[in-house]
Amino acid sequence: MDGNVTISNLQKVYDDGGERTTAVEDLSFDIDGGEFVSIVGPSGCGKSTLLYLVAGFLDETSGTIEVDGTLVDGPGTDRGVVFQDYALFPWRTVMENVTYGLEEQEMDEEERRSTAQKYIDMMDLTGFEDNYPKELSGGMKQRVGLARTLAYDPKILLMDEPFGALDQPLREDLQDQLIDIWGDLEKTVIFVTHDVEEAVYLSDTVMVMTRHPGTKKNVTEVDLDRSQTRADIITSDEFNETKNVVWKSLREETQPEVQPQP
Ligand SMILES: Nc1ncnc2c1ncn2[C@@H]1O[C@H](COP(=O)(O)OP(=O)(O)O)[C@@H](O)[C@H]1O
Ligand SMILES: [Mg+2]
Repeated sequence: MDGNVTISNLQKVYDDGGERTTAVEDLSFDIDGGEFVSIVGPSGCGKSTLLYLVAGFLDETSGTIEVDGTLVDGPGTDRGVVFQDYALFPWRTVMENVTYGLEEQEMDEEERRSTAQKYIDMMDLTGFEDNYPKELSGGMKQRVGLARTLAYDPKILLMDEPFGALDQPLREDLQDQLIDIWGDLEKTVIFVTHDVEEAVYLSDTVMVMTRHPGTKKNVTEVDLDRSQTRADIITSDEFNETKNVVWKSLREETQPEVQPQP
């Protein structure tokens, strides 16, 4: 399956006029096509930096990222990014936001609109085509964000705390919707979150990053029965044991042991 990501010895140093910050340090990680990977780590450890390197928005300082054997050298339609703050165009309607991603593609206006409509319907936004973002709730805005990205059919979805700004019930709706989409559309997903429960609930694999400068600390496989309901999943032993393993590992990074007093 397409959508394989190979990250090798990746390093990113920001250089702001002499002040150098190493954000990502010697990180190697392989993701299979179709895999759902979550990345958790303490605030400032380099999660967004890693995601934007894969997106091609940032250049690495050293190391390489390959998608299906081709070096990443800038953004491309094989990768689609979904942002926490939605990043919708306020002056465009829902339909115009979703067709935006298709403007680079060779399609006529009618095909663009019918493709956009498919994803608008998939994200339960039918009837809101002519609304503007300011008229929508946060959950609906993020549905538009997802529809806009899905519309150009990237192999890889890169999501940076996409549900971080939403209340718990909405978050859960969107999580379940994302799992359905992922199952139907066969995409690789790289999902950044600081919520361990969300990471374990969604993923095949959870990568924990060390605190700044971030690198891969460990990788935990998640083996949930996806045919079960949410209630059954979150009360299962597998879910809770996996959550504890990831949580312990993350806590070592967020609460490093206090140094003994001399
Ligand atoms: N544009 C930038 N210039 C300089 N330093 C940056 C920039 N963006 C992020 N950083 C620094 O890089 C580190 C990692 O940041 P980030 O990737 O945003 O972490 P996270 O998403 O895990 O919170 C932090 O120390 C942050 O301050
Ligand atoms: Mg971030």
